[in-house]
Amino acid sequence: MSDNEEKRLFMDEVIAGLSATPATLPCKYLYDAKGSELFEAICATSDYYVTRADLALHEAHIDEISRRIGPNAHIIEFGSGAGVKTHTLLAGLDHPRAYTPIEISSSALEASVRELEAAFPAIDIRPLQADYTQQIDARFLALDPPANRRIVYFPGSTIGNFERDEAREFLKRMRNIAGHDGALLIGVDLLKPVERLLSAYDDQDNLTARFNLNLLEHIQRVLKADIQIDAFRHEARFNPTLSRVEMHLVATRPTTIDLNGRTFEFDTGQSIHTENSHKYSIDSFRQLAAEAGLDSSQAWTDPQGLFSMHWLESA
Ligand code: TRP
Repeated sequence: MSDNEEKRLFMDEVIAGLSATPATLPCKYLYDAKGSELFEAICATSDYYVTRADLALHEAHIDEISRRIGPNAHIIEFGSGAGVKTHTLLAGLDHPRAYTPIEISSSALEASVRELEAAFPAIDIRPLQADYTQQIDARFLALDPPANRRIVYFPGSTIGNFERDEAREFLKRMRNIAGHDGALLIGVDLLKPVERLLSAYDDQDNLTARFNLNLLEHIQRVLKADIQIDAFRHEARFNPTLSRVEMHLVATRPTTIDLNGRTFEFDTGQSIHTENSHKYSIDSFRQLAAEAGLDSSQAWTDPQGLFSMHWLESA
């Protein structure tokens, strides 16, 4: 997509979201350069247990993961992998052949590629700047000669950001990309007491609040919208029926957003719903994977049961 097409899509999606009742905004636009930086900072807080628990699972089980993946694999990561997790995985594998990070933010992608090329000169690093929720050109993922197998790697808790139906369809797409002898290695956050969940999504340093509010700044910067950003505050809510944490931007006074000749009005207390983070049990995620034609033959979890990592193969 050209820059102009990307901007038009951004505009269309923002207008559609703000026109909906209740208002929403597409969460992928949280991750501009500033948002990606803030998210990295969230991952380092003690409130956001996800990153540490996920990394601990990588470290504890890398030998078994490596055995399952085998030599000469093509690792395809959804999201950019500059972090310690991707390092731990690539360093622990038996002669990985190639690594493809797929990432929408060019700044995050470039940073990760620079680091990984320096750290792993023997691995063919083939970045793809793209929105991984869209169709991915199969030609781009083809290797000549082909790798032994493809592993779709999706750490963190991003799968939780999809609605259940979307997550199932997304798992099917990942299964197709991996192919019938490939596999998926996927992080899944676990349901836990509400207080613990809410502090993970509203940390004491207010980084999550700034991260969520940066979505409005991003829209202001790129789409030249007129927004009183200080008329909104971040709120994390737990929705027990849908087993998810919901992120909202709540108007603290009557305010308007002016965008492309249109005006969107918000009363005090009215919210823009920006993101969901669904929480699963090991079994409820296995069930979802099964609906996508995938067998969860192995799920790793920490002693406290905070987080899980699933190894999924075509059923
Ligand atoms: N994938 C992350 C998660 O669900 C995304 C995330 C973390 C997030 N904190 C957030 C999204 C705050 C919006 C607001 O855990």
